[in-house]
Amino acid sequence: MKFPVLAALASQILAVSAGTILWDGRFNDLSASTDLNNWSWGNQVGPYQYYIHGASAVTAYVNLSADFKNPADAGSKQGAKITLDKTAYWNGQTMRRTELIPQTTAAIATGKVFYHFSLMRKAVNAPATTREHQIAFFESHFTELKAGWLSGAAGIEDPLLRWCIGGQTQWSTNWDAGVWHNVAYEIDFSAGTVGFWHSTGGDALTQTVAPVKASTSSNGADWHVGVLELPRDGYADANEDYYWSGVYIESGSLTTSVSGPGAPAGGSSSSSSSAAASSSTSSVKSSTSTTLVTSTTKAVTTSSSSTTTTSTSTKAQTTSSTTTSAAPAATTTASGCTAARYAQCGGNGFSGCTTCASGSTCKYSNDWYSQCL
Ligand SMILES: *[C@@H]1O[C@H](CO)[C@@H](O)[C@H](O)[C@H]1NC(C)=O
Ligand SMILES: *[C@@H]1O[C@H](CO)[C@@H](O)[C@H](O)[C@H]1NC(C)=O
Repeated sequence: MKFPVLAALASQILAVSAGTILWDGRFNDLSASTDLNNWSWGNQVGPYQYYIHGASAVTAYVNLSADFKNPADAGSKQGAKITLDKTAYWNGQTMRRTELIPQTTAAIATGKVFYHFSLMRKAVNAPATTREHQIAFFESHFTELKAGWLSGAAGIEDPLLRWCIGGQTQWSTNWDAGVWHNVAYEIDFSAGTVGFWHSTGGDALTQTVAPVKASTSSNGADWHVGVLELPRDGYADANEDYYWSGVYIESGSLTTSVSGPGAPAGGSSSSSSSAAASSSTSSVKSSTSTTLVTSTTKAVTTSSSSTTTTSTSTKAQTTSSTTTSAAPAATTTASGCTAARYAQCGGNGFSGCTTCASGSTCKYSNDWYSQCL
């Protein structure tokens, strides 16, 4: 923070109700998705960790464009199209996964913080309604969005986009094509609660679900901006595209405007891996050309309750590997909670639940990943 006084002044000017950006995952700092390749375990640069993806080039899974953002989001110069294709299997797993994870040492998993993002799908390459998709989730799945038929549910398909706590649906809506869903998870890591702020199109966020109890736990590097699709016998893979913009985490008061705090910084990101974006509110927003595209199809809310069966019986945890290689900061793992089937249950840097739901056991995949299978 070079000019604290100026920055404070500037943020007062624009902070009608803006908090402090702890981490800025808006894609303003990237010129192309290939910049994600700069990141590795040995060279942790840029705003995102990029390692959960298939074996093809990054452009098969992530592309950036101004066409991919919520047009009402003046704070983002572009959005990301995140894709699952036939090759999107990570690390020999049976799930298709394309996920970005915050690269930061900022305190994004302490106290009360807001995790912001906007999400849209189109009619083309629509996410399958016949398979479960976990979206914008934490490893321990204490909060996440889900779309499509829930694994283990009755029936064949499910058109809903849901917000879940510990796998249980708290809110849902039909996931219509072309509608931007703006979301902020209001996470209080101290109180152990999560609230849900939501709007569509260019509307300001409103608190749609007041904070509810959750097993909030995160090592600060396990928010998955992207999608994990569970396998389902008899359903072939088709290409799926997910559009994202306005990804950032703030503390203090919540920014409810979808245009977000600050204007695009013009790609002048420092590549320092620490909270480089913490002063980005200092750029005074002068944009007046916000195109406010209000969605014509207003999402219809149906409050179908989740039929997911989340077993809570506990099972002895398999010992995790002690091998280390260029390990991120040592972590403590959460105890007393249960990881759902298919969730991560161990690995270097992992701080989520290490006990698997009954019927699954924690299987070592590599030093970075063990999974309930
Ligand atoms: C990634 O590396 C390339 C090549 O060195 C560089 O031009 C680009 O600015 C880097 N991107 C980021 C976001 O640091
Ligand atoms: C990403 O962009 C590249 C270059 O324009 C293109 O070849 C590729 O097909 C795109 N990927 C997706 C998934 O759309």
